[in-house]
Amino acid sequence: MSAAPRKVLLWTMALVAASTPRFATALDSNNSNICNLSSISTYQLDSFNGNVSQSFLQTKTSTRGFTQCENATLISYDQEFNSLFAPNASLNLIYADPSGDPIADEMGIWLWDRNQVWMASASENNVSHVSILDLSNNTVKPLPVPNGIEVLNPNGGGYHNGKVYIAGDGNYTVPPCIYEVDPVTYQTEVVINSYFGLRFGGPNDVTWASRGGKSWLFFTDDPLSEVYNNGQIPQVPDATWRWDPLENTLLPVIDRTDILVPNGIRVNKNSTKLYVTDTPDPLVYGAAAVQTASGQSIYAATSSSAIYSFDLDESGFPSSRRLFGIAERGIADGLHVDDAGRVWTGEQDGIVVRSPSGKVLGMVNALAIEGEDVVNSGTSPLQNFALAGDLLVVLAFNKIYTVQLSSQIVSDMT
Ligand SMILES: *[C@@H]1O[C@H](CO)[C@@H](O)[C@H](O)[C@H]1NC(C)=O
Ligand SMILES: *[C@@H]1O[C@H](CO)[C@@H](O)[C@H](O)[C@H]1NC(C)=O
Ligand SMILES: *[C@@H]1O[C@H](CO)[C@@H](O)[C@H](O)[C@H]1NC(C)=O
Ligand SMILES: *[C@@H]1O[C@H](CO)[C@@H](O)[C@H](O)[C@H]1NC(C)=O
Ligand SMILES: *[C@@H]1O[C@H](CO)[C@@H](O)[C@H](O)[C@H]1NC(C)=O
Ligand SMILES: *[C@@H]1O[C@H](CO)[C@@H](O)[C@H](O)[C@H]1NC(C)=O
Ligand SMILES: *[C@@H]1O[C@H](CO)[C@@H](O)[C@H](O)[C@H]1NC(C)=O
Ligand SMILES: *[C@@H]1O[C@H](CO)[C@@H](O)[C@H](O)[C@H]1NC(C)=O
Ligand SMILES: *[C@@H]1O[C@H](CO)[C@@H](O)[C@H](O)[C@H]1NC(C)=O
Repeated sequence: MSAAPRKVLLWTMALVAASTPRFATALDSNNSNICNLSSISTYQLDSFNGNVSQSFLQTKTSTRGFTQCENATLISYDQEFNSLFAPNASLNLIYADPSGDPIADEMGIWLWDRNQVWMASASENNVSHVSILDLSNNTVKPLPVPNGIEVLNPNGGGYHNGKVYIAGDGNYTVPPCIYEVDPVTYQTEVVINSYFGLRFGGPNDVTWASRGGKSWLFFTDDPLSEVYNNGQIPQVPDATWRWDPLENTLLPVIDRTDILVPNGIRVNKNSTKLYVTDTPDPLVYGAAAVQTASGQSIYAATSSSAIYSFDLDESGFPSSRRLFGIAERGIADGLHVDDAGRVWTGEQDGIVVRSPSGKVLGMVNALAIEGEDVVNSGTSPLQNFALAGDLLVVLAFNKIYTVQLSSQIVSDMT
């Protein structure tokens, strides 16, 4: 991922008068930044030509009214999506890092009782660190290191019981691990760093589930340490793990034959569902077929770009895997579940919102956030975000935007 300065283009939809019976597209009377598309257009278009190098919104089609949504901030496929946003809500730039550093690339944890969002930069060696956004004055500061334990190469994280848990990818000498950070004193501890003396490949994301008075930490693990941090080659196979801090037990709970490269992970509000994203080689955008430089098509059978749901039982074990969604393009990286069970994911086309059954309701359009050049560059600067009560906080690499929601959609979860 490059740290080159990025051009940011903000688009306001021009007024549009086109109309057709099936695909009518027009501005929402309450929000001139929302472009409505029929959900039918997600699976049926008149003469069309789209490919995975482009946003769905850039698909060339003779369906009238479709292309006018290209640069809109918010794309709706369902009225429920429109109702999530405050009148005329749009992208509000609240912070731009003066040095252009990718401070806002990973994580996205809302500390609901501290009015903060914690984020991480690119989880890459020498670049990655944790930053804290204070939503009361939109200031950003680096996570202090008071006791000599530095959070090394952080990626995802979660907030539970007044403590922040962070996936750290380590480096050659420091094993990948899970950190526990006190957000008041910033005292940091390593709580998990090995499985019977073997290193993890590189924890990616962390979430807590609570049922019947018990709580478990789930984390995903894949070879991020080796890939981004000059770390050691993986010894433990990719897996999703569950830590029970009362029973002092760490168990593998999802095998790599169920999820090959587990990445984003979250539970719903009452911890009856667990959602995990599966992320293949990031160069294989949502497809199983890739074209080589010579133009030859090869079949990359391991790629999937999928979101899976599991049932969580009262003992906190996942079962009943269901394919919940496939990213429109790129991978589904950051994942959050709102109190109504809607699943929000950071994908290459934007921040996509799905209903509890998986219907794509709409998205915050990546083209409106970063501009076409950057979105198509393959670096995917928009991959994580936070749901902070009645605010969507968009982590856009070296910039942070907020979008005002119509009501509080998450209470005390992250
Ligand atoms: C995808 O579409 C764009 C725009 O039409 C085009 O420039 C590009 O060559 C296409 N890529 C492939 C692999 O067809
Ligand atoms: C969207 O923005 C791009 C980049 O400037 C421009 O080429 C395109 O015409 C715009 N699309 C619409 C529908 O306005
Ligand atoms: C777009 O959707 C909103 C919310 O459902 C609605 O108020 C508005 O009339 C819609 N516009 C069109 C043209 O369908
Ligand atoms: C538009 O805003 C009004 C007033 O806030 C609200 O009553 C109405 O439901 C909104 N319409 C839509 C389609 O969201
Ligand atoms: C939204 O913005 C449009 C265009 O600026 C304006 O006409 C309309 O009154 C605004 N609506 C609300 C609910 O603020
Ligand atoms: C980044 O860290 C590696 C060691 O992991 C070191 O070899 C390299 O020189 C560092 N690069 C910079 C730009 O500091
Ligand atoms: C921002 O607000 C926080 C919390 O109220 C405060 O601790 C911090 O000093 C403020 N920062 C600035 C630069 O005002
Ligand atoms: C790993 O990170 C630690 C802490 O920053 C540093 O002291 C050590 O030199 C790094 N190891 C390598 C091989 O870069
Ligand atoms: C969890 O929440 C869902 C949806 O709100 C509800 O249908 C279900 O009964 C709840 N289950 C438990 C065990 O609380």
